Amino acid sequence: MTFYIHTYGCQMNVRDSDAVAEALVAAGHELTADENGADLVIVNTCSVRAKAEEKALGKLGLLCASKRERPRRIIGVMGCMAQRMGEKVFEKVPTLDFSVGCRAARLIPAVVADIAAGGEGQRWLTTDISDHDVPHGHLNTDLSAFVTVLLGCNRRCSYCIVPDARGPEYSRPAKEIVDEVACLAARGVREVTLLGQSVLNYGRQRDPVFDEPPPEGAAFTEPFPRLLEAVSKVPGIKRIRFTSGHPSGCTEELARAFRDIPQVCPHLHLPVQSGSDRILKSMRRGYTAEQYLAAVERLRAFVPDIAITTDIIVGYPGETEEDFEATRALMRAARFDNSFIFKFSPRPGTPAAQMDDDVSVAEKERRNQVLLADQDDIGIANNALWIGREVEVLAEGPSHRNSARWAGRCGQNKIVIFDPPPGIERGDLVKIEIGRANPQTLFGEVRGALMGSRLLPVGGTMVGLPKM
Ligand code: 5AD
Ligand code: SF4
Repeated sequence: MTFYIHTYGCQMNVRDSDAVAEALVAAGHELTADENGADLVIVNTCSVRAKAEEKALGKLGLLCASKRERPRRIIGVMGCMAQRMGEKVFEKVPTLDFSVGCRAARLIPAVVADIAAGGEGQRWLTTDISDHDVPHGHLNTDLSAFVTVLLGCNRRCSYCIVPDARGPEYSRPAKEIVDEVACLAARGVREVTLLGQSVLNYGRQRDPVFDEPPPEGAAFTEPFPRLLEAVSKVPGIKRIRFTSGHPSGCTEELARAFRDIPQVCPHLHLPVQSGSDRILKSMRRGYTAEQYLAAVERLRAFVPDIAITTDIIVGYPGETEEDFEATRALMRAARFDNSFIFKFSPRPGTPAAQMDDDVSVAEKERRNQVLLADQDDIGIANNALWIGREVEVLAEGPSHRNSARWAGRCGQNKIVIFDPPPGIERGDLVKIEIGRANPQTLFGEVRGALMGSRLLPVGGTMVGLPKM
């Protein structure tokens, strides 16, 4: 069969879709870019806000309508909405063929085979959340890849559906992760992003993730910094990123890992959600605004240039103008490099859904716009500080806007545009001096290749070390 996977939601979903794609290809199916022509279409869904579910249900409705002309077409749903809705998804979309929850994705090839053999009327529902068998295949192995290190979430923030959708935390054994990264490196991947809903919680539950305790005098003893160190030893991996963070994981060891492990990029996505202590308490975030800022300062004390990005919810139940102003003040104090702003959406079964959703839609929208404008001002000021300084960029290839120039990201995860020197190749790590900046993008000139990069002639001289 030809197949197409439509992905909504976060990086975890992008990762899961790629693993399913790999498993389907291994089972003899063929990935196509033509959704309309595909024999099998899977929608990987998100439940985080009501809108995300509405979109996915709309998409599934349209796809299933196409079965009237093509009854043998197979349409399935996976991901958070599939997990959360269980059988109800079949009430909403009666001609859907299968629904597979968050921890059963590896069963999809078998489910598809069964439906194809059984013909019309065959239907599958699997929502077992106890499975720990992470699908670890990768189809897309370009320069950068996602690697899941921690499944699920134990935090139970008052507004969040994720613990229901993705189940309890499970940390994969470190060896399994390192082996997966080594396979990726051998296939040309140069940058890995380690994924977990609250990734700094990695290895904090009872089961040990390392075979051995840290040796006497080890630089890192906490599980996540140890994992970073282990991944950094995989030859060929030039960069390590991870997401998302929580202030409780911003320990001095993590700060040292940022500073002392060269492959670890100076960027952390650290969702704050609100700057009001009253709202943070109701959200059950487990920190005050002051503690959040202290976590940011702890990281900056070791890595002054670290970029911090965040998520903020506006219009949480009971959020007053004063609470909102506290969020604005925190944004200024934290000097975020980027912020993703979300309007509160009550999610079934969460404590916040029991509360009065008392901020009007118009007011949520206003607060959203105010924060976006604030972030733009902060972003302009932050990016202007880079003018005249050097950043390290992983060269990704010609820029979409102007193919004569190249694009890449610096460690801080900002897009950098530059003129490609002769001989440059995708995956080279280059030094760029920034000449110009706008809120989203930096522009500069190549000044040389970095240690561990390929030999790269710049201005007639050979700089850098041989390819790893
Ligand atoms: N309403 C609005 N935004 C939410 N998020 C999570 N749950 C909700 C909700 N019920 C936001 C948080 C989280 C991001 C992924 O989505 O900011 O960090
Ligand atoms: Fe959406 Fe959260 Fe599920 Fe990611 S984990 S797909 S953001 S609900």
